[in-house]
Amino acid sequence: MGYPHKPHERETLVLSTHFGDHEAIPLDGWKKRGGYQALQKALGMTPAEIVDVVKASGLRGRGGAGFPTGIKWSFMKPGDGKVHYLCCNADESEPGTFKDREIMRWTPHALVEGCAIGAYAIGAEVAYIYIRGEFTEPLRHMEAAVKEAYAAGILGTNAMGTGKTVHVHVHKGAGAYICGEETALMNSLEGRRGNPRIKPPFPAVAGLFGQPTTINNVETLAAVPHILNRGADWYKGLGRADNPKSTGTKLWSVCGNIQKPGNYEMLMGFPFGEFLHEVCGGALPGRKLRAIIPGGSSVPIQTLEEAESSLMDYEGMVAGGTMLGSAGCIVIDDAQNLVKQIARLARFYAHESCAQCTQCREGTAWTTKILERIVAGDGTTEDLDTLLEIADNMTGKTICVLSDSCATPVVSGIRKFRGDFEALIKKRKVHPVPAVA
Ligand SMILES: Cc1cc2nc3c(=O)[nH]c(=O)nc-3n(C[C@H](O)[C@H](O)[C@H](O)COP(=O)(O)O)c2cc1C
Repeated sequence: MGYPHKPHERETLVLSTHFGDHEAIPLDGWKKRGGYQALQKALGMTPAEIVDVVKASGLRGRGGAGFPTGIKWSFMKPGDGKVHYLCCNADESEPGTFKDREIMRWTPHALVEGCAIGAYAIGAEVAYIYIRGEFTEPLRHMEAAVKEAYAAGILGTNAMGTGKTVHVHVHKGAGAYICGEETALMNSLEGRRGNPRIKPPFPAVAGLFGQPTTINNVETLAAVPHILNRGADWYKGLGRADNPKSTGTKLWSVCGNIQKPGNYEMLMGFPFGEFLHEVCGGALPGRKLRAIIPGGSSVPIQTLEEAESSLMDYEGMVAGGTMLGSAGCIVIDDAQNLVKQIARLARFYAHESCAQCTQCREGTAWTTKILERIVAGDGTTEDLDTLLEIADNMTGKTICVLSDSCATPVVSGIRKFRGDFEALIKKRKVHPVPAVA
Protein backbone atom coordinates (compact mmCIF):
# COMPACT_ATOMS: atom_id res chain seq x y z
CA MET A 1 0.00 0.00 0.00
CA GLY A 2 1.41 3.37 -1.01
CA TYR A 3 2.03 6.02 1.69
CA PRO A 4 1.30 8.76 2.39
CA HIS A 5 -2.16 7.25 2.07
CA LYS A 6 -4.25 8.96 -0.59
CA PRO A 7 -7.79 7.72 -0.13
CA HIS A 8 -10.07 7.31 -3.10
CA GLU A 9 -12.93 9.82 -3.13
CA ARG A 10 -15.42 6.97 -2.91
CA GLU A 11 -13.88 5.57 0.27
CA THR A 12 -15.45 6.38 3.66
CA LEU A 13 -12.68 6.69 6.20
CA VAL A 14 -13.38 5.71 9.77
CA LEU A 15 -10.79 3.14 10.84
CA SER A 16 -8.27 4.16 8.19
CA THR A 17 -8.52 7.94 8.72
CA HIS A 18 -4.97 8.03 10.13
CA PHE A 19 -3.32 5.36 7.98
CA GLY A 20 -0.04 6.83 6.79
CA ASP A 21 -0.01 9.50 9.50
CA HIS A 22 3.15 8.86 11.55
CA GLU A 23 2.06 11.31 14.23
CA ALA A 24 -1.03 9.22 15.02
CA ILE A 25 1.13 6.31 16.19
CA PRO A 26 2.42 7.59 19.58
CA LEU A 27 0.10 8.31 22.49
CA ASP A 28 0.34 12.10 22.45
CA GLY A 29 -0.52 12.22 18.74
CA TRP A 30 -3.34 9.74 19.23
CA LYS A 31 -4.82 11.78 22.07
CA LYS A 32 -4.70 14.92 19.90
CA ARG A 33 -6.83 13.00 17.41
CA GLY A 34 -9.46 12.21 20.03
CA GLY A 35 -7.92 9.01 21.35
CA TYR A 36 -9.12 7.47 24.60
CA GLN A 37 -12.21 9.70 24.89
CA ALA A 38 -14.34 6.65 24.17
CA LEU A 39 -12.62 4.61 26.88
CA GLN A 40 -13.11 7.43 29.40
CA LYS A 41 -16.79 7.49 28.49
CA ALA A 42 -17.08 3.68 28.59
CA LEU A 43 -15.55 3.43 32.05
CA GLY A 44 -18.31 5.76 33.28
CA MET A 45 -21.00 3.47 31.88
CA THR A 46 -22.12 0.05 33.09
CA PRO A 47 -20.93 -2.95 31.05
CA ALA A 48 -24.56 -3.67 30.08
CA GLU A 49 -24.97 -0.14 28.71
CA ILE A 50 -21.92 -0.58 26.48
CA VAL A 51 -23.19 -3.94 25.23
CA ASP A 52 -26.52 -2.30 24.38
CA VAL A 53 -24.83 0.43 22.33
CA VAL A 54 -22.74 -2.11 20.41
CA LYS A 55 -25.83 -4.27 19.83
CA ALA A 56 -27.79 -1.25 18.57
CA SER A 57 -24.97 -0.27 16.19
CA GLY A 58 -25.34 -3.56 14.31
CA LEU A 59 -21.55 -4.16 14.37
CA ARG A 60 -20.72 -7.68 13.22
CA GLY A 61 -17.45 -9.58 13.57
CA ARG A 62 -14.89 -8.65 10.92
CA GLY A 63 -12.82 -11.84 11.35
CA GLY A 64 -14.84 -13.82 8.82
CA ALA A 65 -18.02 -15.24 10.29
CA GLY A 66 -19.88 -11.94 10.79
CA PHE A 67 -21.39 -12.82 14.16
CA PRO A 68 -23.12 -9.79 15.80
CA THR A 69 -20.59 -8.39 18.29
CA GLY A 70 -23.05 -7.05 20.88
CA ILE A 71 -24.84 -10.40 21.03
CA LYS A 72 -21.51 -12.22 21.44
CA TRP A 73 -20.63 -9.87 24.29
CA SER A 74 -24.01 -10.44 25.94
CA PHE A 75 -23.17 -14.16 26.37
CA MET A 76 -20.68 -13.08 29.05
CA LYS A 77 -22.25 -12.46 32.42
CA PRO A 78 -20.30 -9.89 34.47
CA GLY A 79 -20.66 -10.60 38.17
CA ASP A 80 -20.92 -14.40 37.80
CA GLY A 81 -17.95 -14.79 40.13
CA LYS A 82 -15.70 -16.13 37.36
CA VAL A 83 -12.58 -14.65 35.82
CA HIS A 84 -13.39 -13.42 32.30
CA TYR A 85 -11.01 -12.84 29.41
CA LEU A 86 -11.04 -10.96 26.14
CA CYS A 87 -8.84 -12.23 23.32
CA CYS A 88 -8.13 -10.07 20.33
CA ASN A 89 -7.46 -12.14 17.25
CA ALA A 90 -4.56 -10.44 15.45
CA ASP A 91 -3.30 -13.58 13.75
CA GLU A 92 -4.45 -12.52 10.26
CA SER A 93 -3.03 -15.35 8.19
CA GLU A 94 -5.84 -15.81 5.65
CA PRO A 95 -4.37 -15.52 2.15
CA GLY A 96 -5.49 -12.23 0.60
CA THR A 97 -6.24 -10.46 3.89
CA PHE A 98 -3.92 -7.70 5.09
CA LYS A 99 -6.04 -5.10 6.89
CA ASP A 100 -5.54 -5.88 10.60
CA ARG A 101 -1.80 -5.42 10.34
CA GLU A 102 -2.41 -1.91 8.95
CA ILE A 103 -4.67 -0.99 11.87
CA MET A 104 -1.95 -2.12 14.28
CA ARG A 105 0.83 -0.50 12.28
CA TRP A 106 -0.74 2.96 11.99
CA THR A 107 -3.27 3.18 14.83
CA PRO A 108 -2.07 0.83 17.58
CA HIS A 109 -3.78 2.89 20.27
CA ALA A 110 -7.14 2.44 18.49
CA LEU A 111 -6.80 -1.27 19.13
CA VAL A 112 -5.62 -0.84 22.73
CA GLU A 113 -8.66 1.38 23.32
CA GLY A 114 -11.03 -1.07 21.62
CA CYS A 115 -9.62 -3.94 23.68
CA ALA A 116 -9.92 -1.99 26.92
CA ILE A 117 -13.57 -1.09 26.20
CA GLY A 118 -14.36 -4.65 25.09
CA ALA A 119 -12.75 -6.15 28.19
CA TYR A 120 -14.66 -3.84 30.54
CA ALA A 121 -17.93 -4.53 28.71
CA ILE A 122 -17.65 -8.30 29.15
CA GLY A 123 -16.51 -8.13 32.78
CA ALA A 124 -12.88 -9.01 32.03
CA GLU A 125 -9.92 -7.37 33.73
CA VAL A 126 -7.45 -8.82 31.23
CA ALA A 127 -7.34 -8.70 27.44
CA TYR A 128 -4.77 -10.52 25.33
CA ILE A 129 -3.83 -9.42 21.83
CA TYR A 130 -2.65 -12.55 20.02
CA ILE A 131 -0.55 -11.28 17.14
CA ARG A 132 0.95 -13.24 14.30
CA GLY A 133 4.67 -13.73 14.88
CA GLU A 134 5.77 -12.47 11.46
CA PHE A 135 4.17 -9.04 12.00
CA THR A 136 7.35 -7.44 13.29
CA GLU A 137 6.41 -3.79 12.73
CA PRO A 138 2.79 -4.06 13.95
CA LEU A 139 4.07 -6.02 16.95
CA ARG A 140 6.59 -3.31 17.78
CA HIS A 141 3.89 -0.65 17.54
CA MET A 142 1.44 -2.63 19.66
CA GLU A 143 4.00 -3.31 22.38
CA ALA A 144 5.02 0.36 22.45
CA ALA A 145 1.37 1.49 22.61
CA VAL A 146 0.55 -0.81 25.52
CA LYS A 147 3.66 0.39 27.37
CA GLU A 148 2.69 4.03 26.83
CA ALA A 149 -0.90 3.34 27.94
CA TYR A 150 0.33 1.81 31.21
CA ALA A 151 2.79 4.66 31.81
CA ALA A 152 -0.03 7.19 31.30
CA GLY A 153 -2.38 5.38 33.71
CA ILE A 154 -4.81 4.49 30.92
CA LEU A 155 -4.36 0.79 31.65
CA GLY A 156 -3.74 -0.85 35.01
CA THR A 157 -5.52 -1.16 38.33
CA ASN A 158 -6.83 2.41 38.23
CA ALA A 159 -7.62 2.78 34.54
CA MET A 160 -7.97 6.46 33.65
CA GLY A 161 -8.39 7.27 37.33
CA THR A 162 -11.69 5.38 37.59
CA GLY A 163 -10.57 2.71 40.06
CA LYS A 164 -11.37 0.04 37.48
CA THR A 165 -8.85 -2.60 36.41
CA VAL A 166 -8.06 -3.10 32.74
CA HIS A 167 -4.95 -4.93 31.62
CA VAL A 168 -3.91 -5.48 28.00
CA HIS A 169 -1.10 -7.88 27.11
CA VAL A 170 0.43 -8.52 23.71
CA HIS A 171 1.29 -12.14 22.91
CA LYS A 172 3.30 -13.10 19.84
CA GLY A 173 2.24 -16.26 18.00
CA ALA A 174 4.64 -18.45 16.08
CA GLY A 175 3.08 -18.12 12.64
CA ALA A 176 0.49 -20.86 12.10
CA TYR A 177 -2.74 -20.14 10.21
CA ILE A 178 -4.66 -22.53 12.45
CA CYS A 179 -3.88 -20.33 15.49
CA GLY A 180 -6.36 -17.81 14.05
CA GLU A 181 -9.16 -20.28 14.79
CA GLU A 182 -10.46 -19.04 18.12
CA THR A 183 -10.03 -22.16 20.23
CA ALA A 184 -6.63 -23.00 18.69
CA LEU A 185 -5.64 -19.43 19.56
CA MET A 186 -6.62 -20.02 23.18
CA ASN A 187 -4.65 -23.27 23.31
CA SER A 188 -1.65 -21.49 21.85
CA LEU A 189 -1.98 -18.67 24.42
CA GLU A 190 -2.00 -21.28 27.16
CA GLY A 191 1.28 -22.68 25.84
CA ARG A 192 -0.25 -25.76 24.24
CA ARG A 193 -0.19 -26.96 20.65
CA GLY A 194 -2.53 -24.76 18.58
CA ASN A 195 -5.20 -27.37 17.88
CA PRO A 196 -8.86 -26.30 17.71
CA ARG A 197 -11.05 -27.53 20.57
CA ILE A 198 -14.31 -29.40 20.21
CA LYS A 199 -17.33 -27.12 20.76
CA PRO A 200 -19.37 -27.10 22.95
CA PRO A 201 -18.30 -25.88 25.37
CA PHE A 202 -18.13 -22.54 23.56
CA PRO A 203 -15.54 -19.96 24.66
CA ALA A 204 -18.19 -17.87 26.44
CA VAL A 205 -18.69 -20.82 28.79
CA ALA A 206 -15.18 -22.31 29.00
CA GLY A 207 -12.50 -20.52 27.01
CA LEU A 208 -9.03 -19.30 27.92
CA PHE A 209 -7.75 -21.16 31.02
CA GLY A 210 -11.22 -22.73 31.20
CA GLN A 211 -12.85 -19.35 31.96
CA PRO A 212 -15.59 -17.44 30.07
CA THR A 213 -13.87 -15.77 27.12
CA THR A 214 -14.80 -13.58 24.16
CA ILE A 215 -12.70 -13.54 21.01
CA ASN A 216 -12.87 -10.66 18.56
CA ASN A 217 -11.02 -9.63 15.46
CA VAL A 218 -8.77 -6.52 15.37
CA GLU A 219 -11.06 -4.61 12.99
CA THR A 220 -14.12 -5.41 15.11
CA LEU A 221 -12.53 -4.06 18.29
CA ALA A 222 -11.00 -1.03 16.55
CA ALA A 223 -14.51 0.00 15.43
CA VAL A 224 -15.86 0.10 19.00
CA PRO A 225 -14.34 3.46 20.13
CA HIS A 226 -15.87 5.15 17.07
CA ILE A 227 -19.27 3.70 17.92
CA LEU A 228 -19.07 4.92 21.51
CA ASN A 229 -17.88 8.37 20.44
CA ARG A 230 -20.35 8.93 17.64
CA GLY A 231 -23.27 6.74 18.65
CA ALA A 232 -25.00 3.59 17.48
CA ASP A 233 -27.31 5.51 15.12
CA TRP A 234 -24.41 7.10 13.28
CA TYR A 235 -22.81 3.68 12.73
CA LYS A 236 -26.10 2.09 11.73
CA GLY A 237 -26.57 4.86 9.19
CA LEU A 238 -23.41 3.85 7.34
CA GLY A 239 -24.49 1.31 4.77
CA ARG A 240 -27.45 0.75 2.51
CA ALA A 241 -30.78 1.87 3.93
CA ASP A 242 -32.54 -1.27 2.72
CA ASN A 243 -30.22 -3.61 4.63
CA PRO A 244 -30.03 -2.98 8.39
CA LYS A 245 -28.17 -6.30 8.86
CA SER A 246 -24.86 -4.95 7.54
CA THR A 247 -23.80 -1.65 9.07
CA GLY A 248 -20.70 0.53 9.18
CA THR A 249 -17.64 0.46 6.99
CA LYS A 250 -15.46 -2.46 5.99
CA LEU A 251 -11.76 -2.56 5.21
CA TRP A 252 -11.16 -4.40 1.93
CA SER A 253 -7.71 -5.78 1.12
CA VAL A 254 -7.33 -6.06 -2.64
CA CYS A 255 -4.53 -8.00 -4.33
CA GLY A 256 -3.76 -9.91 -7.51
CA ASN A 257 -4.29 -8.81 -11.11
CA ILE A 258 -5.67 -5.32 -10.56
CA GLN A 259 -4.36 -1.84 -11.29
CA LYS A 260 -4.47 -0.46 -7.75
CA PRO A 261 -4.07 -3.11 -5.07
CA GLY A 262 -4.23 -2.01 -1.44
CA ASN A 263 -6.56 -1.50 1.51
CA TYR A 264 -9.80 0.40 0.94
CA GLU A 265 -12.40 1.37 3.52
CA MET A 266 -15.82 1.14 1.94
CA LEU A 267 -19.38 1.61 3.11
CA MET A 268 -21.25 -1.64 3.58
CA GLY A 269 -23.33 -2.26 0.46
CA PHE A 270 -21.14 -0.35 -2.02
CA PRO A 271 -21.48 -1.81 -5.55
CA PHE A 272 -18.70 -4.35 -6.07
CA GLY A 273 -18.45 -3.81 -9.85
CA GLU A 274 -17.86 -0.09 -9.39
CA PHE A 275 -15.34 -0.87 -6.68
CA LEU A 276 -13.31 -3.26 -8.83
CA HIS A 277 -13.38 -1.27 -12.07
CA GLU A 278 -13.34 2.31 -10.85
CA VAL A 279 -11.98 2.49 -7.31
CA CYS A 280 -9.34 -0.22 -7.83
CA GLY A 281 -8.74 0.73 -11.47
CA GLY A 282 -9.86 -2.52 -13.11
CA ALA A 283 -7.77 -4.98 -15.11
CA LEU A 284 -4.13 -4.57 -16.06
CA PRO A 285 -3.53 -3.28 -19.63
CA GLY A 286 -4.51 -5.83 -22.27
CA ARG A 287 -6.08 -8.20 -19.73
CA LYS A 288 -9.61 -8.96 -18.55
CA LEU A 289 -10.79 -9.73 -15.04
CA ARG A 290 -12.02 -13.28 -14.89
CA ALA A 291 -12.50 -14.63 -11.37
CA ILE A 292 -12.74 -12.95 -7.97
CA ILE A 293 -12.28 -14.43 -4.50
CA PRO A 294 -13.77 -11.59 -2.46
CA GLY A 295 -13.59 -12.66 1.17
CA GLY A 296 -10.19 -14.22 1.77
CA SER A 297 -9.19 -17.57 0.30
CA SER A 298 -11.88 -19.56 2.15
CA VAL A 299 -14.94 -18.22 0.31
CA PRO A 300 -16.47 -19.39 -2.99
CA ILE A 301 -14.90 -18.01 -6.15
CA GLN A 302 -17.09 -15.61 -8.13
CA THR A 303 -17.31 -15.21 -11.87
CA LEU A 304 -16.82 -11.63 -13.05
CA GLU A 305 -20.56 -11.38 -13.78
CA GLU A 306 -21.43 -12.44 -10.23
CA ALA A 307 -18.93 -9.96 -8.80
CA GLU A 308 -20.18 -7.11 -10.95
CA SER A 309 -23.72 -7.58 -9.70
CA SER A 310 -22.83 -7.95 -6.00
CA LEU A 311 -23.06 -5.46 -3.17
CA MET A 312 -20.23 -5.28 -0.67
CA ASP A 313 -21.91 -6.47 2.51
CA TYR A 314 -22.72 -9.76 4.21
CA GLU A 315 -26.05 -10.30 2.43
CA GLY A 316 -24.93 -8.82 -0.89
CA MET A 317 -22.04 -11.23 -1.16
CA VAL A 318 -24.24 -14.24 -0.35
CA ALA A 319 -26.65 -13.11 -3.08
CA GLY A 320 -23.61 -12.94 -5.38
CA GLY A 321 -22.76 -16.61 -4.81
CA THR A 322 -20.06 -16.15 -2.20
CA MET A 323 -19.39 -14.66 1.26
CA LEU A 324 -17.96 -11.44 2.67
CA GLY A 325 -15.55 -13.36 4.93
CA SER A 326 -12.65 -11.15 5.95
CA ALA A 327 -12.93 -9.08 2.72
CA GLY A 328 -9.52 -10.14 1.44
CA CYS A 329 -10.20 -9.78 -2.26
CA ILE A 330 -8.03 -11.81 -4.65
CA VAL A 331 -8.45 -10.77 -8.29
CA ILE A 332 -7.56 -13.22 -11.07
CA ASP A 333 -7.39 -12.23 -14.74
CA ASP A 334 -7.53 -14.08 -18.05
CA ALA A 335 -3.76 -14.54 -18.22
CA GLN A 336 -3.77 -16.90 -15.23
CA ASN A 337 -4.13 -20.64 -15.02
CA LEU A 338 -7.07 -20.67 -12.60
CA VAL A 339 -6.65 -24.35 -11.71
CA LYS A 340 -3.06 -23.66 -10.73
CA GLN A 341 -4.25 -20.86 -8.44
CA ILE A 342 -6.78 -23.19 -6.79
CA ALA A 343 -4.09 -25.88 -6.43
CA ARG A 344 -1.86 -23.32 -4.73
CA LEU A 345 -4.60 -22.51 -2.20
CA ALA A 346 -5.16 -26.23 -1.55
CA ARG A 347 -1.43 -26.65 -0.90
CA PHE A 348 -1.63 -23.82 1.63
CA TYR A 349 -4.47 -25.53 3.50
CA ALA A 350 -2.71 -28.92 3.39
CA HIS A 351 0.38 -27.30 4.89
CA GLU A 352 -1.60 -25.47 7.57
CA SER A 353 -3.92 -28.33 8.63
CA CYS A 354 -3.28 -29.21 12.27
CA ALA A 355 -3.93 -32.84 11.20
CA GLN A 356 -6.26 -33.56 14.12
CA CYS A 357 -9.23 -34.57 11.94
CA THR A 358 -8.80 -37.30 9.34
CA GLN A 359 -11.07 -35.59 6.79
CA CYS A 360 -8.88 -32.48 6.92
CA ARG A 361 -5.47 -34.12 7.21
CA GLU A 362 -6.11 -36.55 4.35
CA GLY A 363 -8.58 -34.45 2.39
CA THR A 364 -6.38 -31.37 2.05
CA ALA A 365 -3.42 -33.56 1.01
CA TRP A 366 -5.40 -35.63 -1.53
CA THR A 367 -7.04 -32.51 -2.96
CA THR A 368 -3.64 -30.88 -3.45
CA LYS A 369 -2.19 -34.00 -5.07
CA ILE A 370 -5.06 -34.36 -7.54
CA LEU A 371 -5.14 -30.66 -8.44
CA GLU A 372 -1.39 -30.60 -8.98
CA ARG A 373 -1.73 -33.71 -11.15
CA ILE A 374 -4.33 -31.96 -13.30
CA VAL A 375 -2.12 -28.86 -13.59
CA ALA A 376 0.83 -31.06 -14.59
CA GLY A 377 -1.23 -32.51 -17.46
CA ASP A 378 -1.86 -35.91 -15.89
CA GLY A 379 -5.50 -35.44 -14.83
CA THR A 380 -8.61 -37.37 -15.87
CA THR A 381 -12.31 -36.48 -15.96
CA GLU A 382 -12.85 -38.90 -13.06
CA ASP A 383 -10.51 -36.72 -11.01
CA LEU A 384 -13.16 -33.98 -11.01
CA ASP A 385 -15.74 -36.35 -9.50
CA THR A 386 -13.17 -37.52 -6.97
CA LEU A 387 -12.39 -33.92 -6.00
CA LEU A 388 -16.08 -33.19 -5.44
CA GLU A 389 -16.53 -36.36 -3.43
CA ILE A 390 -13.52 -35.57 -1.23
CA ALA A 391 -14.80 -32.00 -0.82
CA ASP A 392 -18.13 -33.35 0.38
CA ASN A 393 -16.34 -35.42 3.00
CA MET A 394 -14.36 -32.37 4.08
CA THR A 395 -17.34 -30.08 4.58
CA GLY A 396 -19.13 -29.80 7.93
CA LYS A 397 -17.45 -32.86 9.37
CA THR A 398 -14.44 -31.59 11.28
CA ILE A 399 -13.66 -29.76 14.52
CA CYS A 400 -13.00 -26.45 12.74
CA VAL A 401 -13.68 -25.13 9.26
CA LEU A 402 -10.14 -25.20 7.86
CA SER A 403 -11.15 -28.33 5.99
CA ASP A 404 -14.30 -26.65 4.59
CA SER A 405 -12.14 -23.68 3.60
CA CYS A 406 -9.97 -25.90 1.42
CA ALA A 407 -12.99 -27.52 -0.20
CA THR A 408 -14.81 -24.25 -0.95
CA PRO A 409 -12.59 -22.84 -3.75
CA VAL A 410 -12.32 -26.32 -5.27
CA VAL A 411 -16.08 -26.90 -5.42
CA SER A 412 -16.88 -23.38 -6.63
CA GLY A 413 -13.98 -23.58 -9.10
CA ILE A 414 -15.25 -26.82 -10.64
CA ARG A 415 -18.88 -25.61 -10.69
CA LYS A 416 -18.17 -22.21 -12.20
CA PHE A 417 -15.02 -22.81 -14.26
CA ARG A 418 -15.26 -26.48 -15.20
CA GLY A 419 -14.01 -25.67 -18.70
CA ASP A 420 -10.63 -24.64 -17.27
CA PHE A 421 -10.20 -28.05 -15.63
CA GLU A 422 -11.41 -29.90 -18.73
CA ALA A 423 -9.07 -27.97 -20.99
CA LEU A 424 -6.09 -29.12 -18.90
CA ILE A 425 -7.41 -32.68 -18.83
CA LYS A 426 -7.84 -32.71 -22.64
CA LYS A 427 -4.20 -31.78 -22.98
CA ARG A 428 -3.35 -34.90 -20.97
CA LYS A 429 0.10 -36.22 -21.68
CA VAL A 430 0.17 -39.67 -23.26
CA HIS A 431 2.83 -41.64 -21.49
CA PRO A 432 4.59 -44.27 -23.58
CA VAL A 433 3.79 -47.84 -22.50
CA PRO A 434 7.03 -49.55 -21.55
CA ALA A 435 7.88 -52.45 -23.86
CA VAL A 436 7.36 -55.91 -22.34
CA ALA A 437 10.47 -58.02 -22.68
C1 LIG B 1 -8.57 -21.79 10.31
C2 LIG B 1 -9.14 -20.50 10.79
C3 LIG B 1 -8.36 -19.35 10.84
C4 LIG B 1 -8.89 -18.15 11.30
N1 LIG B 1 -8.08 -17.04 11.30
C5 LIG B 1 -8.55 -15.87 11.80
C6 LIG B 1 -7.70 -14.74 11.89
O1 LIG B 1 -6.52 -14.76 11.51
N2 LIG B 1 -8.24 -13.60 12.41
C7 LIG B 1 -9.55 -13.53 12.85
O2 LIG B 1 -9.96 -12.50 13.34
N3 LIG B 1 -10.36 -14.59 12.76
C8 LIG B 1 -9.90 -15.76 12.28
N4 LIG B 1 -10.72 -16.85 12.24
C9 LIG B 1 -12.08 -16.71 12.80
C10 LIG B 1 -12.04 -16.84 14.33
O3 LIG B 1 -12.16 -18.22 14.66
C11 LIG B 1 -13.16 -16.08 15.03
O4 LIG B 1 -14.36 -16.38 14.40
C12 LIG B 1 -12.97 -14.56 15.00
O5 LIG B 1 -11.73 -14.17 15.51
C13 LIG B 1 -14.08 -13.92 15.83
O6 LIG B 1 -13.95 -12.52 15.83
P1 LIG B 1 -15.12 -11.58 15.27
O7 LIG B 1 -16.42 -12.06 15.85
O8 LIG B 1 -14.76 -10.23 15.76
O9 LIG B 1 -15.08 -11.71 13.78
C14 LIG B 1 -10.23 -18.07 11.74
C15 LIG B 1 -11.02 -19.22 11.69
C16 LIG B 1 -10.50 -20.40 11.21
C17 LIG B 1 -11.37 -21.62 11.18
